[in-house]
Amino acid sequence: MAKFIDSPMVTEVKKITFRLYCHDWDERNGGNVSYRVLPEELEGYEDISEVKRNIPIDFNGKDLAGMYFIVTATGRYFKNIIDFPDRDLGLVRIAEDGKSVGLLWGYGDGASPTSEFPTHLMGHQERLKHDPEQRVIMHCHPTNLIAMTFTQNLDERNFSRILWKMQTESLVVFPEGVGIIPWMVPGTTSIGEETAKKLAKFRAVIWPQHGIFGSGKSIDEVYGLIETIEKAAQIWTVIQMQGGEIKQTITDDDLLNLGKVFGVEPNRNFI
Ligand code: 13P
Ligand code: ZN
Repeated sequence: MAKFIDSPMVTEVKKITFRLYCHDWDERNGGNVSYRVLPEELEGYEDISEVKRNIPIDFNGKDLAGMYFIVTATGRYFKNIIDFPDRDLGLVRIAEDGKSVGLLWGYGDGASPTSEFPTHLMGHQERLKHDPEQRVIMHCHPTNLIAMTFTQNLDERNFSRILWKMQTESLVVFPEGVGIIPWMVPGTTSIGEETAKKLAKFRAVIWPQHGIFGSGKSIDEVYGLIETIEKAAQIWTVIQMQGGEIKQTITDDDLLNLGKVFGVEPNRNFI
């Protein structure tokens, strides 16, 4: 029988958290990831059958009862997960009453799930209504995107249009645009509720002066979504460094044509 630490799912989370760290998007303990794992993916591991402890959660997770998640621990550094996965990650199952999680593996030195776990769970719950294949929520602190939340109006239409026009790829990757909530205290159920409301319409939600929450079917898809948004923000930043004068850009008609050819439906409230 195999050990869960060697599973492809743990390997994927180890690699992605290190890559996020290498992008400078997860300084210190910044960022968190939750990955819904299917019961069939958990078959054949010798060390995940017992509940090691119950951890209360600050959210009623009844609708997610019985689901399994690999979740990064609160206060832990993405820099280190690659070397200490069974200390800084946990595999949890949501209890039947939705009030706690059972720890099946990991959090070896007494750690607990990320402080943003309520937002992750509310996010999974909301996205599952729109996409039964929803598996991953990823939060990180991308530098250029955060900087833009100081200098741009926090209007979803305005922000999405800037990001779409920074590179041809943007509209294809996030045709619905990006959601934005007001600045709020992190780690609370209130920020989770506001983020989940936005996740009803968008797969990515910006937390001003803080970071981004991305959602999707796989680690690759969500990482790619965040990378593409941050790349657009980086191009915007470089344009400002080059003087800021725009001589030519992607037009609204270009965006609509892109949508047609790539088979995506641009958010018509924004064009
Ligand atoms: P955690 O260490 O609790 O995951 O918090 C990091 C973070 O980015 C908070 O928004
Ligand atoms: Zn954060």
